[in-house]
Amino acid sequence: MCEMNLKNENLYYIGGVVRDELLGKESFDIDLTYQGNAIEFAQTLPDAEILQINEPFGTVKIKLDGEEIDIASTRSEIYPQKGHLPKVNNIGCSLKEDILRRDFTINAMAKSTLTGEIIDYTSGLEDLKNKKLRVLHNNSFIDDPTRIVRGLKFSVRFGFELDEHTKKLQDKYLQSINYDMSYKRLKKELVETFNLNLWTAFEKFVNEGIYKLISPQEFTLPQNNLEELIKKYKPTFPWIVYVGLLPDISNLPLTKTEQKIVDDYKKILNQVQNDKNISDFEIYKAFEGVNLETILMLATVNPEITGRYLDKLRHIKPEITGKDLQEIGIAPSPKYSEIFDFILNEKLKNPALNKTQEIELVKKFYLIP
Ligand code: CTP
Repeated sequence: MCEMNLKNENLYYIGGVVRDELLGKESFDIDLTYQGNAIEFAQTLPDAEILQINEPFGTVKIKLDGEEIDIASTRSEIYPQKGHLPKVNNIGCSLKEDILRRDFTINAMAKSTLTGEIIDYTSGLEDLKNKKLRVLHNNSFIDDPTRIVRGLKFSVRFGFELDEHTKKLQDKYLQSINYDMSYKRLKKELVETFNLNLWTAFEKFVNEGIYKLISPQEFTLPQNNLEELIKKYKPTFPWIVYVGLLPDISNLPLTKTEQKIVDDYKKILNQVQNDKNISDFEIYKAFEGVNLETILMLATVNPEITGRYLDKLRHIKPEITGKDLQEIGIAPSPKYSEIFDFILNEKLKNPALNKTQEIELVKKFYLIP
């Protein structure tokens, strides 16, 4: 962990950063909690420039020695509406109360910035040693079902397992899901989990029924593992290649691109699944203008076709242009697209065709009566 110059007996590193340091892993954001009111604390620091204050959440951003630092006040939370963002209940509560509102014991440790002492009220250290994910109380998933996906994320990221009681609580929740939840938060966790590109994550997601958090429609694990394909072709949004396979993800707030990826998949699925003798030309046309993510999703049903397209067909492009057609005396008309398709078809059969040969072919079939 990168040590800061800011040290105080009430200032603690907290959550993921402490967990990651104990695991010997790099942490990307450093969470700090001040036991008391962090805003008032920041105002007492002579060398700190206050950049931003969020009064209702009791958080503050400061600049100190050229470094930007976020500090939260200790706070307790309540869940007036289960499955939605909690409400801040008490800013400046004890460190212990702040810790007890958290998800898993391994995320519920603090480290003093002053002495380096680890504060561990919930036996997080022991769970870390035993590679266990354990919730802090029986209502944890009811309050916040996104924690089920967080559990999945941590289990695949670190190779941990849910402890027995936590697994029972998960199963119980998945038997009676409250679909009135914040899907924005759920999506964030799904993105983080499946962008790791681990097939084991998708196996657990499906086999443990976690996918039902999105929609109750049944789904079974596809046979073709996508991990290697995603590694090879590097799509921009790996997560949607997995999650988009579910029959209904309309609860998730999708961007336009993500929605297109899923819609195209559904549109092309039947053709790719049922047409065993599909020609190169038909594959080319079906995949034209479709995102890489959609094509990788289709690899779960027909890896032969998608492989053929990605490794060979998509690199084939006719060189002839509309200008060339005009120059050989064909006036612009809807016939152009027929001609381009004709050349494409020829080029797919013989990718070595050069532009002169393409023009010759057009002349032969469209100019000579
Ligand atoms: N937390 C929680 N419940 C959630 C989300 C977060 O209790 N649904 C708590 C955990 O204590 C977590 C901390 O808030 O450690 C910070 O959350 P976040 O930054 O999302 O997670 P990290 O644990 O830092 O995990 P990551 O490494 O994936 O960012």
